[in-house]
Amino acid sequence: MTAAFQTRLTRLLGIQHPIVLPGMTYVAVPRLVGAVSAAGGLGILASGALSPDECRRDIEQIRAITDRPFGVGFSLALPGAIDCVDVALQARVPVLNISMGKGDWVIERAHAYGGKVIATVSNEKHARSAIDSGVDGLIVTGHEAAAHGGHVTSMVLIPAVRDMCDLPIIAAGGVADGRGLLAALALGADAVAMGTRFATSLESPLHANTKQLVIDKPAEDTIYSRNFDTYPCRVMKTPGGKRYTARPLSPPVALKRSLQAAWEMDQPMLGLARDAMSHGTVQAVRTAYFGAATLAMRKAMHDGNHEDGVQLIGQSQGLVHDVASVAEIVARVMAQAQSVLRDLNTCASSGA
Ligand SMILES: Cc1cc2nc3c(=O)[nH]c(=O)nc-3n(C[C@H](O)[C@H](O)[C@H](O)COP(=O)(O)O)c2cc1C
Repeated sequence: MTAAFQTRLTRLLGIQHPIVLPGMTYVAVPRLVGAVSAAGGLGILASGALSPDECRRDIEQIRAITDRPFGVGFSLALPGAIDCVDVALQARVPVLNISMGKGDWVIERAHAYGGKVIATVSNEKHARSAIDSGVDGLIVTGHEAAAHGGHVTSMVLIPAVRDMCDLPIIAAGGVADGRGLLAALALGADAVAMGTRFATSLESPLHANTKQLVIDKPAEDTIYSRNFDTYPCRVMKTPGGKRYTARPLSPPVALKRSLQAAWEMDQPMLGLARDAMSHGTVQAVRTAYFGAATLAMRKAMHDGNHEDGVQLIGQSQGLVHDVASVAEIVARVMAQAQSVLRDLNTCASSGA
């Protein structure tokens, strides 16, 4: 049996291991989410590209795989997010993971049935605002992370946020093995979220070409740029990634690609536009950039096309050397963390 680490997060959620699958659009799908929760971690479904009906269906699919706790993630500023939150609250999902917006109402409704709310933040200012709003925990995303990591590395950001609160903290960014888990616990975290590592698992829907690229690429082969979707974002250094981030997209091109993505995904344009505008003009423009980005993301993730597609990936790709099952990854991470801890204890007790 795999040895356990009990932390504020494992106790809060009643999970076996301090390991989380973070929300990843098109990747954190029911099969992968269910596998991580069934292995004793916490899987979080990405709802960004789902309609409310699809969200309901995916929650049922996860519950058919495992009766262990799982979560659903929401970017509150994206069109349609509010309706998906409503579906998750009605389904009494154990954990709601919110980002990009104020979630007081989510917290109130989740707490009414014993649900927990975890906010994703990438700097101290947003951590302060999430703590003050009454969340139950934080995912703190450092600079190393795939997608929207902050400007500060996990090495500094995790202890800085730990000094601000006693809430469970999940460290995201740069962790792909047991050494990373133990380091994160030492920095004050209560768990780790591994995006890049689980995206390269057997149960991940990432295209086989893309998984192979993750294995082949060194840690430094990523690009951190605002030019992908207007927020600083880390993507894999590929021909498509280099071209897309070389210069900012013009708003008309972003709008055209966003509409094309909505059309290809069979999304109701009028509803999307109305929803996007309800958050103000700046957010509506950002939504157009997000929409445009989804086209490029799907080419890389689903088709393995890295000439035109763009792959979100973290620096921890340099630590991924194989495609393994979720159960194997969790077992390895826990065993390595235990082994490193034993070495450190020996080191400390021998005074070496
Ligand atoms: C393939 C992939 C897709 C991702 N998609 C999203 C996304 O849609 N939205 C988001 O906020 N973060 C996304 N992330 C970032 C993760 O939620 C998480 O913050 C990050 O992966 C942690 O860093 P790591 O990759 O070093 O483990 C994605 C990450 C990966 C690897």
